[in-house]
Amino acid sequence: MSKWSGFYQHSVSERRNLISQVCHLTVSEQKFMQQNADSIGDAQVENYLYSFQVPVGLLLDLPVNHEKYLVPMATEEPSVIAAANHGARLLAKGTGVITAQAERLMTGQVLIQNLGDVDATEKILMQQATQLIAVANQAKPSLIQRGGGAQRIEVKVLDATTLSLDLLVDPKEAMGANSVNTMLEAVASFLRNQGYDVLMAILSNYSIHALTHAQTRIPVDALVEHSDLSGSQIAEQIVAASRIEQLSVERAVTANKGTLNGIEAVVLASGNDTRNVNAALHAYASHTGRYRGLIRWTMEDDELVGTTELPLLVGSVGGSIGIVPAVQLNRRIMNEPDAKMLADLIIATGMAQNLAALRALVTDGIQQGHMSLQAKSLAVQVGARPEEQTPLVEALQQQAQSMDAAKAKMMLRKMRENK
Ligand code: HMG
Repeated sequence: MSKWSGFYQHSVSERRNLISQVCHLTVSEQKFMQQNADSIGDAQVENYLYSFQVPVGLLLDLPVNHEKYLVPMATEEPSVIAAANHGARLLAKGTGVITAQAERLMTGQVLIQNLGDVDATEKILMQQATQLIAVANQAKPSLIQRGGGAQRIEVKVLDATTLSLDLLVDPKEAMGANSVNTMLEAVASFLRNQGYDVLMAILSNYSIHALTHAQTRIPVDALVEHSDLSGSQIAEQIVAASRIEQLSVERAVTANKGTLNGIEAVVLASGNDTRNVNAALHAYASHTGRYRGLIRWTMEDDELVGTTELPLLVGSVGGSIGIVPAVQLNRRIMNEPDAKMLADLIIATGMAQNLAALRALVTDGIQQGHMSLQAKSLAVQVGARPEEQTPLVEALQQQAQSMDAAKAKMMLRKMRENK
């Protein structure tokens, strides 16, 4: 038996004591764990020790559908929130972000294997669609009461003996994972009783039936700010950068990571599942058969036009949303968005983030803004005391292009010697 067997059955403080002994943790490390623990964390995860904090900063005046929103962002990366704010300020000089959603359905799969004739089975299952939807809905009557539920099925032949029965469910305000899995298991059991070899039943994170579309238009002159380039030159360079994202996987992944800097920060702050959104977005980036940048920028007359559509299945209830005080606070700051509005805020944050990054890349380069904002973390990292941080940050910012920990350490030492 492992020495850790039954670890989860101990109380949180017993677990912390055990770990402190095994890992020889100092008194201050033990105190840190204790001070950062709460009953909510223990209710959320297994083998809980303490809670890991992520800073929350504010995105101000994000322009979406002719209104402006405050959006809390949870991220540990310097310059992301500054860039999102910069992007939002640029978006606001044009139309802001205009969004649309045709439908918001979660997809679930019942995977059936060892079929003799997949084409015949496909027809039979489609003929049974009404009954299969009823079986699914009977498994989750509370969702029907809230006006949601299974809406349709689709059958996809995967190979000569295997198919996927896809159930499309309206989860209303929730993200829908638990409801959909319950419904799928009911359908799986119904099909097993009919003699089908059902391998498994599980939701799909590829939220292709929950696409949010977004567009924005910015007069090119609004892009100038402090740059020697004209607005149309900057816009043309952003369009060229966007074109490269459609051609180079290496570049597309980096651009999408930048867009996700903003998207994930809002998803996390709103108590939603970052892995769900992340997986869906990267998969969708390949939906044409080639991995591409998720946001496209073109020029029309004197306007820079951004367009995108992203699978964004997020909820305004369920999961940690109802139990984590920070999430409830963030939702209050965002003016309690419903699930659709939250997806709109997320897509608009992604556009602001991508625009600011591209503008920086095609003008000053990324290091100037990114590294100068990293100076604060660097000062803390090298041990600057609170009263030393401001002068060290200012000195580091003078050398943003070549700033690193060794240089910061050296500068701190010199500052102390010269005192
Ligand atoms: P700037 O033009 O030098 O600064 O931008 P500014 O002083 O003119 O400020 C412009 C606006 O930016 C401000 O407006 C603020 O909204 C915001 P104002 O309030 O003055 O009216 N802003 C800030 N907000 C909060 N805190 C701050 C702050 N500073 C400016 N400290 C800036 C400076 C960093 C914003 C700009 O250079 C920028 O947007 N850079 C991009 C940085 C970035 O994308 N960082 C993400 C990490 S890098 C990455 O992972 C992604 C990437 O690889 C993606 C890709 O390759 O596509 C780059």
